[in-house]
Amino acid sequence: MLIGKEVVKPLFQERKNTVYPFTEKFMASDKNVEFLKAAMMGPNAMRLSEELSSHLKINENMRILDLGCGCGLSTLFLVKQYGASVFAADLWISPTENHERFKSLGIDGKVVPISVDATKGLPFANGYFDLLFTVDAYHHFGDTEDMLPSLIPFVKKGGTIAIAIPGIKYEFGANVPDEMKPFWNDEVARTLHSIDWWKELWKKAAGMEIVDIREMTCCRQAWSEWLTAYSPYAAEDIKMMEAEGGKYFNLIQMTARVI
Ligand SMILES: C[S@@+](CC[C@H](N)C(=O)[O-])C[C@H]1O[C@@H](n2cnc3c(N)ncnc32)[C@H](O)[C@@H]1O
Repeated sequence: MLIGKEVVKPLFQERKNTVYPFTEKFMASDKNVEFLKAAMMGPNAMRLSEELSSHLKINENMRILDLGCGCGLSTLFLVKQYGASVFAADLWISPTENHERFKSLGIDGKVVPISVDATKGLPFANGYFDLLFTVDAYHHFGDTEDMLPSLIPFVKKGGTIAIAIPGIKYEFGANVPDEMKPFWNDEVARTLHSIDWWKELWKKAAGMEIVDIREMTCCRQAWSEWLTAYSPYAAEDIKMMEAEGGKYFNLIQMTARVI
């Protein structure tokens, strides 16, 4: 691993047309699709990672914190696509399980699997990472004013924070649409927010500047791939996505530069 190596600071690159060559090639194999169906924990994290990273400049010299990595689909993408070194950190999935998976994928030499709870502080040095990358996880713990300021110090100055999360097109407040009411429990209401809501929260954080907050284009595709997953949660989400009918949900990506 390239731990300790000084790295060129990550710069943002101009938006390209969104294409997913890595994901498409990966999913061209039936065996890989089976692997994805078993490893997805929400909208296809490989596709989200590919779209999010298409807005960044990532290279093999970078040390990346993949926070809330789940079963490591984003980690797999970051290692295979860029050769970067990744700390694959998660709360619900054990580092042992992820290590076994990373070994089977042949990427264990580039990945440190680690158990963390982002709400309880992270066990890293300040300025340790070039990039904090988090896909379909940040909404679970990032909805407070304290969370972003607590993470910024782990990213070096000039480094990048890049986050992709499920969201909604506008804040429902007390007016939850009738068709969404069966699915709108307290946890969903706490975690799913609009671009404007996240923007207001992020504007309050010192030590970084927002580069870009936008809707992602892979929303429908990433969600429909998730609905084919073997997880019982995917089966439950089928009814919700039918009710939603493309009217309310989006995927949101947020990028910021640490200053
Ligand atoms: C919906 S899953 C997505 C996992 C993976 N990123 C993916 O897209 O396949 C959400 C992930 O967030 C992680 N998570 C939730 N709360 C967390 C916390 N406080 N600290 C670290 N990870 C957390 C969970 O462990 C879980 O793996």
